[in-house]
Amino acid sequence: MSDDGHYKPEEAATIFPDGKLARPLVVGTVPRGGRTVTDTIYAVTAPTTAPAASFPFPLDRAGLERGKQQYEIFCAVCHGATGDGNGMIVRRGFPHPPSYYLDRLRKAPPGHFYDVITHGQGAMYSYGDRIVPEDRWRIVGYIRALQLGDPKNDGLATTPPEQRK
Ligand code: HEC
Repeated sequence: MSDDGHYKPEEAATIFPDGKLARPLVVGTVPRGGRTVTDTIYAVTAPTTAPAASFPFPLDRAGLERGKQQYEIFCAVCHGATGDGNGMIVRRGFPHPPSYYLDRLRKAPPGHFYDVITHGQGAMYSYGDRIVPEDRWRIVGYIRALQLGDPKNDGLATTPPEQRK
């Protein structure tokens, strides 16, 4: 009785290659608000698609401030205000994320961060339903600003060995 055989929302499903029951939106879908998902700002990338190498629109000061505000609401609880991965939820036992200052993440293209926000990764769940695409890019811009602001930090001191790769 506790497992009646039908799939529940967001359940894992082995029948799809990405292991998720929830299917990505079909290109051309018009979400609420009237945007189409074909342009790069809103792109719903599959794990097999190469991440975007650049930002789809320029980020000015107001954009970065919005990114900071959204980062502090949605990300800092785990990733920490500076991106070192020592957020409050992590200090209370949640799996430790890698520091944004690792060489690998400094070199990662902006689209990688956008894709992780959109789809989640490992223990981190997806924010695709909570953060609108433009704000995801603004958060990525703010993460880039954090990385540039501390050029000597290699991130190793705050990243557990299993998250350094
Ligand atoms: C509830 C805690 C939590 C929150 C909130 C969270 N993350 Fe994460 N994040 C993680 C954990 C844990 C990992 C490591 C996941 C893994 O590889 O298992 C991670 C990994 C990442 C990575 C590294 C991916 C890589 O290549 O290794 C990025 C980038 C990232 N998160 C960005 C964000 C952004 C941006 C936000 C806010 C929109 C956010 N995260 C919110 C826990 C969180």
